[in-house]
Amino acid sequence: MTATYHIKTFGCQMNAYDSERIGELLEAQGHTAAGIDTAEIVVLNTCHIREKAAEKVYSDIGRLKASRRPSGVKPTVVVAGCVAQAEGAEIVRRAPSVDVVVGPNAYHRLPAMLRAGGGLDTDMPLASKFDALPARRSIVGASAFLTVQEGCDKFCTFCVVPYTRGAEVSRPAGALVAEARALIAGGAKELTLLGQNVNAYRAKDLGGDITLAGLIRRIAALPGLARLRYTTSHPRDMADDLIAAHADVDVLMPYLHLPVQSGSDGLLRAMNRAHTRASYLRTLDRLRAARSDIALSGDFIVGFPGETDADFDATLSIVAEVGYAQAYSFKYSPRPGTPAATMAGQVPEAVKDARLAELQAAIARSALAFNRASVGTRCDVLLDRPGRRPGQLIGKSPWLQSVFVASPAARIGDMITVDLIDAQPNSLEGAAVNPIRAAA
Ligand code: 5AD
Ligand code: SF4
Repeated sequence: MTATYHIKTFGCQMNAYDSERIGELLEAQGHTAAGIDTAEIVVLNTCHIREKAAEKVYSDIGRLKASRRPSGVKPTVVVAGCVAQAEGAEIVRRAPSVDVVVGPNAYHRLPAMLRAGGGLDTDMPLASKFDALPARRSIVGASAFLTVQEGCDKFCTFCVVPYTRGAEVSRPAGALVAEARALIAGGAKELTLLGQNVNAYRAKDLGGDITLAGLIRRIAALPGLARLRYTTSHPRDMADDLIAAHADVDVLMPYLHLPVQSGSDGLLRAMNRAHTRASYLRTLDRLRAARSDIALSGDFIVGFPGETDADFDATLSIVAEVGYAQAYSFKYSPRPGTPAATMAGQVPEAVKDARLAELQAAIARSALAFNRASVGTRCDVLLDRPGRRPGQLIGKSPWLQSVFVASPAARIGDMITVDLIDAQPNSLEGAAVNPIRAAA
């Protein structure tokens, strides 16, 4: 029997990619998309990275199960993603009305579980789910994600990912080049290669030992692709060949998300980051030598156990030193089963709040300075959504800045050339260069 479905995505871009694939899987069964208030099947694709993200799931389950669909029945609720993986049994105990609990490595089995009327599957099977998923849909947006690597072997002491997503696994390069080709044929002009540790990518097919740089070069060679990005990278895995790709692969965008987490060597050690402040900064020097206009983004944690005022000052000073184009910052959230959760020196909430506010102000200043420095320059913008005002569209610059353009002649999915004329901390205003040019 076919039904209507809705997928609500929490967390990172890997979940966004998984949600797309789950959607394709459900469509292949004849199910059709609907809103969250009417859909007969609601999939919550969850995030476990911080406590707040995980707790949201339980309130959503309660709300959904108290509701009725237009036909009068309660929705079938599926909990997928990392909360499902980490807390499968607990979900069943705390929210027994949930119908299906399925982990991020088992969702190819979702249709069978729905047919069976429910179940729990948090296996991490050796055979890849990707081989069991239907082929990519023929129509995609101008910008598409492509998961190339999953899992993490780094075991930062604060992080649940190595437990929820398992060990580092890379998909074969041949399958990825084929999927990239299908996405481009479906309309994608920009691809973002995704992985928890995307630069740890390693495959042995297509007749060689293929690194992320090798994969980038193969995908960059596909006709029709205008932009290529990858995220998230670990500072430890910024290999020479990857840095070299930034110098000579023209579709590779001059932007890199390279989390540092803290500017203090003592904390980096306690976090088990396997890099220092100095080695991180050296990596940036190598990158800038390859591509002088590369922009950086990062992630930061404040209030990690033992963080002193001096440690926090070191974080503020690395923000100033790097000049991030943007960055994400989080209050440390103790996660069950991770080493940092039981470390001495847990930081009081009020201190975390104050540090977060100060860091976010510093990041906003850095982003504004970066955006202001681009005013007066010309760049290509890939339009990806409507703006607030009529005739206004929003797109991305090569440096992932959001650019507002008043251009009634342009359409979403177009790549246009603009003059950047004004800057805010989170966006820029661009004037379309006439005539509108489809750059790709
Ligand atoms: N508490 C706060 N932030 C965290 N992150 C990962 N684990 C935690 C945690 N326990 C942040 C890191 C990471 C980003 C995806 O989430 O900064 O880079
Ligand atoms: Fe988590 Fe560290 Fe792995 Fe990133 S590198 S996913 S922060 S353990």
